Amino acid sequence: MSRSDKSGVLLSKNLLTFIPFVSWEILVHDIAIYYFSATGNSLAVAQSLAASLEAPAPISIPGSLISGDPYSAAAHAKTVGFVFPVQRATIPEMLRGFIEAMPVSAQKYYFAIATYSLFGRNEFWDIDELLRQKGAMLNYAAGVRMMGNVGLAHPSKATINRRQEQMRARISDIALSVSYKQENYFPRANRLLDKAVRRFTESRRRNLVFRIDKHCRHCGICAQVCPAQNIQLPEKGQEVLAPIRSDRCMACLACIHWCPAGAIGTPTHLHTRYHHPTVLPEQLHSMNTKDGS
Ligand SMILES: Cc1cc2nc3c(=O)[nH]c(=O)nc-3n(C[C@H](O)[C@H](O)[C@H](O)COP(=O)(O)O)c2cc1C
Ligand code: SF4
Ligand code: SF4
Repeated sequence: MSRSDKSGVLLSKNLLTFIPFVSWEILVHDIAIYYFSATGNSLAVAQSLAASLEAPAPISIPGSLISGDPYSAAAHAKTVGFVFPVQRATIPEMLRGFIEAMPVSAQKYYFAIATYSLFGRNEFWDIDELLRQKGAMLNYAAGVRMMGNVGLAHPSKATINRRQEQMRARISDIALSVSYKQENYFPRANRLLDKAVRRFTESRRRNLVFRIDKHCRHCGICAQVCPAQNIQLPEKGQEVLAPIRSDRCMACLACIHWCPAGAIGTPTHLHTRYHHPTVLPEQLHSMNTKDGS
């Protein structure tokens, strides 16, 4: 299937101008936006995009998986979007599994929005490949540069605010493109370099080894924000004990970043802690443990 096969459904600006209000409503409510987020950036982007499109609230991928019916919104939508962080030069593991198991249709319009701090490599092509294996394709892809959660220096408030302003402007452009069902081309990075990057990152994608130090307050925030439900705080009588984890870790680093005591780190932990300034851990928790909003 070529990228231009679907040009018949591309709406021109002029055509959209003449669509009455009711039709616009139908158009935007045909959208299902799924997101994965470790430190809140992708949640903020997904929410802002949904608001710009007047689309239903974005759906948490971990939450939808727990609901037991993760794909019902996508089944009823004509446009399906994925918002996620670039992690180790590609898509998060949970998003990969989610798309792999998703029933898809060549009649639907698929878009992907990656949040990133420096640059991506394979994320859009990886999604395109997963969709193409099942007869659909990725029609539109765009990146939104956000504050990084693997930086070595604490960003200033001014930098965070500036990035937020840039995000809003970028999302208006993206919303316009998605509402017109525009298509675009996303080049794949150099194959040799990709292989090297993959080899380097593959081993780091699962079961992150981390330590919890004496500053732990047993508050449970790490368990709340973990999208893999990998952390538990056992109880002994009235006492809440220190967190323990099982083997479902996807190395997203959410627990490290959200811990208010800075008590979690990896043995080689160098970078600073960051999470999106307006997202709360309870918000991530409630959306990650039920079907979306
Ligand atoms: C484990 C991990 C790997 C990352 N790898 C990349 C990367 O390869 N390229 C990049 O630009 N940003 C990378 N980042 C930064 C995130 O993509 C970026 O901060 C993103 O906006 C975080 O989104 P979230 O808050 O929704 O999780 C990485 C972050 C983590 C935690
Ligand atoms: S978030 Fe930090 S302080 Fe709270 S339970 Fe987890 S490790 Fe302990
Ligand atoms: S244990 Fe921490 S790093 Fe692993 S999946 Fe959960 S939040 Fe992410």
